[in-house]
Amino acid sequence: MAVITCIEDLKRIHKRRAPKMFYDYAESGSYTEQTFRENSSDFAQIRLRQKVAVDMSGRSTATEMISQKVTMPVALAPVGLTGMQCADGEIKAARAAEAFGVPFTLSTMSICSIEDVATHTKAPFWFQLYVMRDEDFVDAIIERAKKAGCSALVLTLDLQILGQRHKDLKNGLSAPPKFTLPVLLDLATKWRWGLEMLGTPRRSFGNIVGHAKGVGDTSSLMSWTAEQFDPQLDWNKIARIREKWGGKLILKGILDAEDARMAADFGADAIIVSNHGGRQLDGALSAIRILPEIVAAVGDRIEIHMDSGIRSGQDVLKALALGAKSTFIGRAFIYGLGAMGQEGVKRALEVIHKELDITMALCGERDVKDLGRHNVLLPEGFTGQYK
Ligand code: FNR
Repeated sequence: MAVITCIEDLKRIHKRRAPKMFYDYAESGSYTEQTFRENSSDFAQIRLRQKVAVDMSGRSTATEMISQKVTMPVALAPVGLTGMQCADGEIKAARAAEAFGVPFTLSTMSICSIEDVATHTKAPFWFQLYVMRDEDFVDAIIERAKKAGCSALVLTLDLQILGQRHKDLKNGLSAPPKFTLPVLLDLATKWRWGLEMLGTPRRSFGNIVGHAKGVGDTSSLMSWTAEQFDPQLDWNKIARIREKWGGKLILKGILDAEDARMAADFGADAIIVSNHGGRQLDGALSAIRILPEIVAAVGDRIEIHMDSGIRSGQDVLKALALGAKSTFIGRAFIYGLGAMGQEGVKRALEVIHKELDITMALCGERDVKDLGRHNVLLPEGFTGQYK
């Protein structure tokens, strides 16, 4: 088996093993992909401050996210169609997260259902909600998440309308895939994926099929989702959802200090500074570049998490140094899953953990909670460049 030393290794194997349509689905940003690219290139602009001759024994990456203990401040982000990258993908990723001691977030648009994941795991997971027009569906799915023991609701605010990803249209993305000639030719080289898929009944949107009115089969599902995301989502509707849920609430997709203030005034438990991994507003700033401004605005009032662009433990350290209490990874764990299932997600977490731990030591820090602005060097104007 190949020696895995970094997330890039997992990405290469993922590309080889998963059908092109699903690899491309993960590895795309919207429109020109400027924001998708800058999520990574902006991390690369930040430099770390080396410190020597400090005791680096007894290091710890353990901390808390919304008062839940975590082995390291890295949760698995909600990713739609995870169970198409690899059979039973959500269950496998949730199990890897549980074993590692970090939270797993299940997407509304998952293949394995809430009930499926709850049955196959012990640790409570988090549920990510997309707000649909159909209030009955929303209320019912909130009840299902409660019943499954989910310990936080992650409410995504930046995808009420879909940013276009060119490749998804060109590839005819669907779950399960339609067997056109290009798809069949591609699948002929992805036999391992195909065999595993044949062995599972979970091949369409498990949270939706059989639960939403007018969705009996998957062929109507793509049009259902396009029509169903509620374009009227506003703070009043968010308040209604908070009331229905009644538990810990994390607002995902904040990329502006003014919106962050509103989230803090609203009294959410945490926000995720995120541009959806560059998949929505192309031309938006990278999440890491806007993070310090948001921390300055509300860091003393609300817990701040961030995602978008994290591919290493060094990136996690940079986000924490700029004021995030914690981070989420999307593609970094999806590459692992697409490459080698549950074992691959475990490897992705191990890679990031080790990088974080060693980099912390080289920065002269022993506790992840002590990381701060003093650990990084920013190029002139990194945060204030765009007014
Ligand atoms: C996502 N993301 C996402 N977010 C969400 O709230 N619900 C979802 O269903 C999805 N689906 C989804 C699919 C794929 C393929 C990707 C790559 C991302 C966004 C995700 O939660 C997270 O914000 C980003 O993935 C973070 O960026 P990185 O870590 O992928 O760079």
